[in-house]
Amino acid sequence: MIRRSIVVGCGCYLPQRVVTNEELARSIDTSDEWVRKRTGIVERRIADENEKTSDLAINAAKEAIKTAGLSVNDIDLIVLATATPDETFPATATRVQEGLGMTKGAAFDVQAVCTGFIYALNIADNFIRVGQAETVMVIGAETFSRILDWDDRTTSVLFGDGAGAIIIQGLEQSSDKNLRGILSNHLHSDGRHHDFLYVDGGPSSTKTVGHLRMEGREVFRHAIKNMASVLEEALEANNLSPEDIDWLVPHQANKRIIDGTAQKLKLAPEKVIVTVDRHANTSAASIPLALGTALNDGLIKEQDIVVLEAMGGGFTWGASLIRW
Ligand code: UT7
Repeated sequence: MIRRSIVVGCGCYLPQRVVTNEELARSIDTSDEWVRKRTGIVERRIADENEKTSDLAINAAKEAIKTAGLSVNDIDLIVLATATPDETFPATATRVQEGLGMTKGAAFDVQAVCTGFIYALNIADNFIRVGQAETVMVIGAETFSRILDWDDRTTSVLFGDGAGAIIIQGLEQSSDKNLRGILSNHLHSDGRHHDFLYVDGGPSSTKTVGHLRMEGREVFRHAIKNMASVLEEALEANNLSPEDIDWLVPHQANKRIIDGTAQKLKLAPEKVIVTVDRHANTSAASIPLALGTALNDGLIKEQDIVVLEAMGGGFTWGASLIRW
């Protein structure tokens, strides 16, 4: 018997408040035309002053439990990816555990910025593969609005708040033919690129929360290269070719990065899930939010080959290949 993790539920949560490019252009020197043309972003959601990362995550997690037809007692582990935790400690995942009324199992955070969801999913998948967990909640949740320098037009127009959650469960399968579930995960990082994308604060360096700083052009250049190469790596590991991909669910940072990656692999644009126009870059939340949108639209069917991939600060990058 071969054990693989299959996705049994998915939930999304976006804060109520919609902020358009026009609204931002009233306070900084930018325009709807510039932001749309350079990024594909039309609007983003911004969390309420009292709404924390854990609040967004709890809403997404509740929906995931509902769509999976499970109860909170079925969850063995919560792995939550975020770069914007409620507090320095404890882990935001434990706030979510409390908010769900879950009193058993374990909960912890993972920090890999925009690649956080892929890292969290890989860890959760390993727990299931070795039999240490049966049912795992994997969440990406962020309130990047709290770490943006709202006077910096080169970064403040790019990000939004939100949360997405999926539940994965171990499935024993008798043959390796058309095996369902997460077939492989591929993680990378290269700390030499720290200065291109980081937050200039933290408890051990400046004792402040700090603001996001980015050399956009450098990140852009590395993003297409790294995302295309990790996608090729995932295909090769499974003896698949780009034509075998039914759905690519990429991190949603910039429509031009998404298009550039797809073009490099000659992927048809109809196979690529795009939500950056509505959500902007929600960091670790962007992939589960895009996946949730595709599922709600009824796009993904059993046996489809679905590839998730991301790149972010660190640099970190990675991919997960799933037969649905
Ligand atoms: O999640 C992973 C992390 N993030 C990313 O993946 C983002 C990666 N980078 C990008 O998406 C793009 O590099 C940006 C969207 C950030 C910028 O697009 P770009 O085409 O690389 O523009 P640029 O930085 O080369 O700037 C072009 C011009 C500059 O003016 P000059 O020097 O040519 O006169 C900027 O000052 O656009 C100017 N500019 C703006 N103009 C209006 C930069 N930001 C803005 C703005 N509104 N918001």
